[in-house]
Amino acid sequence: MRLPDSFIQQVLDRNDIEQVVSSYVALKRRGRNLVGLCPFHGEKTPSFTLYPENGSFYCFGCGAGGDVITFVRRIEHLDYLDAVKWLADKAGLPMPENVSDDKTSRLRVRVLEANREAARLYHRILYAPEGRAGLDYYHRRGYTDATIRHFGLGYAPPSGNPVLRALREKGFHDEELEAAFLCRRKEGSVYDLFRNRVMIPIIDIRGNVIAFGGRVLDDSKPKYLNSADTPAFRKSENLFALNFAKNNAGRSFILCEGYMDVIALHQAGFPQAVAALGTSFTEEHARLLARYTGDAGEVTLIFDADGAGKKGTQRAIDLLRAVGVRVRVVTIPDGKDPDEFIRRHSPERFRLLLEGAVGDMGYRLAELRLHNDLNTPEGKVRYMRQATDLIAGLDSPVEREVYAGQVAAQMSVQKSTLLEQIRQTIERRERGSRKTQMARIVRRQQQETVRANPEAAAHPRAAAAEESLIGLLLQNPDSIAYVARQLDPSQMITPLGRDIYARLVDRQQKGLMVDLAYLSADYDEAQMAYITSMLQAARDRVNSLEEADRYIAVLRQEQAASLLARPEELTPEQIREQLALLRKER
Ligand code: CTP
Ligand code: MN
Repeated sequence: MRLPDSFIQQVLDRNDIEQVVSSYVALKRRGRNLVGLCPFHGEKTPSFTLYPENGSFYCFGCGAGGDVITFVRRIEHLDYLDAVKWLADKAGLPMPENVSDDKTSRLRVRVLEANREAARLYHRILYAPEGRAGLDYYHRRGYTDATIRHFGLGYAPPSGNPVLRALREKGFHDEELEAAFLCRRKEGSVYDLFRNRVMIPIIDIRGNVIAFGGRVLDDSKPKYLNSADTPAFRKSENLFALNFAKNNAGRSFILCEGYMDVIALHQAGFPQAVAALGTSFTEEHARLLARYTGDAGEVTLIFDADGAGKKGTQRAIDLLRAVGVRVRVVTIPDGKDPDEFIRRHSPERFRLLLEGAVGDMGYRLAELRLHNDLNTPEGKVRYMRQATDLIAGLDSPVEREVYAGQVAAQMSVQKSTLLEQIRQTIERRERGSRKTQMARIVRRQQQETVRANPEAAAHPRAAAAEESLIGLLLQNPDSIAYVARQLDPSQMITPLGRDIYARLVDRQQKGLMVDLAYLSADYDEAQMAYITSMLQAARDRVNSLEEADRYIAVLRQEQAASLLARPEELTPEQIREQLALLRKER
């Protein structure tokens, strides 16, 4: 089912691309355009560019590009129809009839409904006689009934398949329960996946139950069973308790490792605590938090007091810094994790710990000192070299000054000596990184082109003319009529080029709007990125009819060359014609 143009037009009118994108990316004006850090790959210098004049975006770093619908498709991981629906919902526009019954989105809705029912059931069981073991477990850990209710905690009993039975009764199909990761089919029979575990529902920022974590009641393994990714859930993109934490006034967060830490912290009066979901902290998690911290907020890391916790801390610092979030670190002096610390001491003691959090640089420098023997000259030199490398990685000159000063004072050396060393390190790195960055951009664009349009590589000269011509037409739809009189779609060199060109001509002849957004129903994300790169490149060129003539000439000539490569398929008359063309235009 195709959405009518008029509806797309309304959706576009009410969803300014600048406004939509700016809720994910901090944009700065640069001339007519806006730039920011690309939300689709990790970067420190902005290569994501927004072109308000034609409603497109393009990232020079990773090659992502498209119109506002493509942007939503990528960032929210939706298919085309769901992305349009997402934008329509935001603008309060009802979708036209019989469009929303798309298959995958229907399954997603069913999975969410099944999860909600299952969460209710697990919670009910917890307070029934058969849930005794679970309730005792929570109480033993010091969770109050108010906390249990707040998080909707529950219990999956050891036997009996209660989810399967109850949800079948409510009309869910076995396939839906399997898709939701609630049940599994094995050798023909279907049974509940979570057994004999306390159940923690994972709730997203819209209030949907998207997954579960289930913990054993004793020391058996595996300690946790977590929902795998489902049509409604990606674990690398959600944080436990963000639904509560996002409302905290200070826009600051506590990031810890475990579900149980988060629950204990919320109960102790720290509702800003979140944790990753049975996985290490990812780039996506960092970007998600960055959306909520804004400029004022920060993230305090409190990972477990072990080797894995230290590693996780270093990793999270890098990822959060890369998206511009300020980071502080708390090291737990005794006890294995925040949950245990609070139980052993008190919320007040924890608050003191939090207030004593050190900046991420302070933490890292202290870690380096710990690993070097500062009583020996070798140890000192090694420490200074590592510290210099670390400080050289800071973007802000002020920060570099401050930490260089600190290290210089500690080690009784001249600050100027240290700063000089830092300057040299930065210079060396920049020389290296400029080269690799340029190489990466070129490589990335080639990859994108190959992915979107594999045929382009076989005829580079013709493909370049084709790309330039399509860019010109998108940039300047007025010239479509002129070009259409000279060039038949069959003369385009690649199938994709032919298809795009035919669509542009068709729209123009029907008097329809020619705009990137109207193409996005017909092309996937890679193709949209490729099309946008053509438009993007055309912005920097002269787009006159003479230029169009030049591209057309190249296309004809290349076609002649390829026809002449198989002369047996041509009549003598045609051969003469093509030869003339080739001679005239070369
Ligand atoms: N985790 C997991 N599977 C495991 C172990 C851990 O998914 N087998 C994930 C869970 O998200 C868990 C987090 O890693 O919350 C931290 O692990 P850990 O500190 O061992 O768990 P806690 O939640 O702190 O549980 P407890 O305090 O009961 O040991
Ligand atoms: Mn723990």
